[in-house]
Amino acid sequence: MTAINLEQHLTDNNCDEQLKDLIILLSRQAPKIKSVFAHNQDSAGTLNTHGDEQAELDKVADEIIINALRESNHVKTIASEEQSDIIEIITPYEGYGITLDPLDGSSLISVNLSVGTIIGIYPNGNILQEGKNMVASMYILYGPLTILVYTIKNGVHEFVMDENGEFTILRENITMPQGNIYSSGGLKKDHKEKHSKFIEKLENDGHKLRYSGSFVADFHQILRYGGIFSYPSLKNNENGKLRLLFEANPIGFIAKQAGGEISTGFKDILDIIPKSIEDKVPLYVGNKNKIKNLEEHMKKEKIDEKDKEIIEENHINSTNYEVPIYESKQ
Ligand code: AHG
Ligand code: MN
Ligand code: MN
Repeated sequence: MTAINLEQHLTDNNCDEQLKDLIILLSRQAPKIKSVFAHNQDSAGTLNTHGDEQAELDKVADEIIINALRESNHVKTIASEEQSDIIEIITPYEGYGITLDPLDGSSLISVNLSVGTIIGIYPNGNILQEGKNMVASMYILYGPLTILVYTIKNGVHEFVMDENGEFTILRENITMPQGNIYSSGGLKKDHKEKHSKFIEKLENDGHKLRYSGSFVADFHQILRYGGIFSYPSLKNNENGKLRLLFEANPIGFIAKQAGGEISTGFKDILDIIPKSIEDKVPLYVGNKNKIKNLEEHMKKEKIDEKDKEIIEENHINSTNYEVPIYESKQ
């Protein structure tokens, strides 16, 4: 019996025809991107709008995917991490809104560790709505294997690319196990007390540190082995580093479909209404009960005065994140 391919799987799951075409089209860009790795190993010498240094591969992957989407007829808007503005496309249909991190983890290109492409798919061409409204999300991870993980709100499924660039099923209906992996981004000296305490608890509970610098690869490990990944609010950077539209939402959508959760530490990330494509967000993603423990810890633990001042001064209020109510421990 031949293994089920991506197209068959989408058909078997009653995927809407336009969405199916779109997901297949996106999957076809994976072999093209993979094939240009060897000759695009350098920095491009430019910065994107987030102030990150762009790698040649960031730009090439961006161009490959955007060009394909422009031809698709199913896409009305594209927001890419590597573009300063939203791209609007005239389409005969209503068209989807696409968010794109063409190459996530690009600082690892030159050391040959796993990097990936992260994509969110929104209805009505509107990418500036809550992540929970997405119709699908997916990522492609370029590692020893090139794999594709997708959800159309039908569970989470993993496919592997063969030598012809075709994707066949590897694992169906993935659910996140309990697990004991943790990842914590940002410099330790910049971590706030509450985050540090939470990490200390995880370590004392027997959790093992695994952090590569590629969110998509680090998340994939959490998806398969269980645990919790974090890139927290930092003393000098209230919203951390990860981007709501390009990284947090699509990964969170997959995490939830696998039985996990994604949170700022205080609320569900998928409930946030974006203000702009540049929004960043403190991020915790992993097992449901670990996220629950985290949120309880963030609400209950006493914080120091300096921490409090930072929270009061900064824009946490103005970017939809609830200011937590801290109970003082007398
Ligand atoms: P990108 O390569 O798309 O700019 O994303 C990098 C992100 C994310 O993949 C990763 O978790 C994080 O930045 C790594 O940041 P640090 O270098 O601060 O660990
Ligand atoms: Mn990224
Ligand atoms: Mn990127």
